[in-house]
Amino acid sequence: MPDYATLSKTIAALTEGETDTVALMATVACELHHSDDRFDWTGFYRVTEPGLLKIGPYQGGHGCLVIPFDRGVCGAAARTGEIQLVPDVDAFPGHIACSSSTRSEIVLPVRNASGDLIGVLDIDSDRPAAFTNEDARALEAILTAVFAR
Ligand code: SME
Repeated sequence: MPDYATLSKTIAALTEGETDTVALMATVACELHHSDDRFDWTGFYRVTEPGLLKIGPYQGGHGCLVIPFDRGVCGAAARTGEIQLVPDVDAFPGHIACSSSTRSEIVLPVRNASGDLIGVLDIDSDRPAAFTNEDARALEAILTAVFAR
């Protein structure tokens, strides 16, 4: 488990005064990815048109480029606006396997200061049941602090 308090302070310092969404996403993806060995793919999908996600800044191997809201774990998070905590991706109907080594996943909606959905944060792990509710709460707080300020 990362030291989320320190990680949050580091991200706040690195992104101070920045308002460009891509610059913010690139920095958050980098800091999160290098904070924990469980994180094998860490990245953002952006809402580029109603009902459609396109890849944004990420760390790790290849990421699928386009995800409609009606597909995958990312689509479910965008469609419902709810955090998706997936202990076993093989048990998630419609999971999109960008990498065959992924076993578990967490996807969080990302909103701006007006509450609009601007994308999702997706973290994959090669370990089964790698993510906890504590991860969900801490990651949600970091996303709110960076994107909804
Ligand atoms: N597995 C995701 C797709 C993105 S890759 O994990 C990078 C999904 O099911 O939506």
